[in-house]
Amino acid sequence: MSVQSALKRRTAPDIRARKNGDPIVMLTSYHAHTAALVDRYCDVILVGDSLGNVMHGFETTVPVTLEMMILQGRAVMRGSQQALVVVDMPFGSYEASKEQAFHSAARILKETLCGAVKLEGGVKMAETIAFLAARGIPVMGHVGLTPQSINTLGSFRAQGREEGTWQPIEDDARAVAEAGAFSMVIEAVAEPLARKITKDVAIPTIGIGASAACDGQVLVLEDMLGLSPRAPKFVRRYGELGPMIEAAIEGYARDVRSRAFPGPEHVYAMKPKS
Ligand code: KIV
Repeated sequence: MSVQSALKRRTAPDIRARKNGDPIVMLTSYHAHTAALVDRYCDVILVGDSLGNVMHGFETTVPVTLEMMILQGRAVMRGSQQALVVVDMPFGSYEASKEQAFHSAARILKETLCGAVKLEGGVKMAETIAFLAARGIPVMGHVGLTPQSINTLGSFRAQGREEGTWQPIEDDARAVAEAGAFSMVIEAVAEPLARKITKDVAIPTIGIGASAACDGQVLVLEDMLGLSPRAPKFVRRYGELGPMIEAAIEGYARDVRSRAFPGPEHVYAMKPKS
């Protein structure tokens, strides 16, 4: 037996093989402690560049750096055992050339030990996806709303509402699949379009605000836990942790102010001197 752990992590080919199978469950995580919880229930953990909004309070994902992604990717790998960990390539780390993309993606894989990277873009990124996939880097695509392009898009609007606007998004999805991506995120597109793309492409589609017609779903963990100050409208909340955390902090502050907390004698009482 090898020295590797007995628990086998899911791989990109495992996820690729889930097309038309059981829905793929995916959530974001940026820390070892949340990764350990997410890992018990999810097939894929995304170390999303949404960490720029969630952890750092940026308005957009544009300021996120490769170093930030690598640091949190390492934390998530340490916290998880079974899920495929996918790390987002941040804005500016892959668009200039396929060689730039390879160097950035190789750094992510080598320094975090994650199983795949994700990058945004369709037709324009197809050559890069093919270049990476041919060189041992599993790529998850991301089409529809691509938040890293906010400065050219102008707003985070849902895509493909009218049938007349579907073609470029369909072309993007087809290009990503044909380039060799093992799966793709479809963000904020109308249900009929998500259904059509899911039927047309050979790889699993993972929706976010794109309906249950996809092969799986991803959400930002803090959004579905009720921890994000501003979550998108389509997010179903499975908890209200913001108010719970605030109540706990309020209780703590009250205790400290009224000196109603255990002192060192309490700790020493539990640990007899040896
Ligand atoms: O960064 C992220 O969390 C993402 C999801 C929104 C898909 O890319």
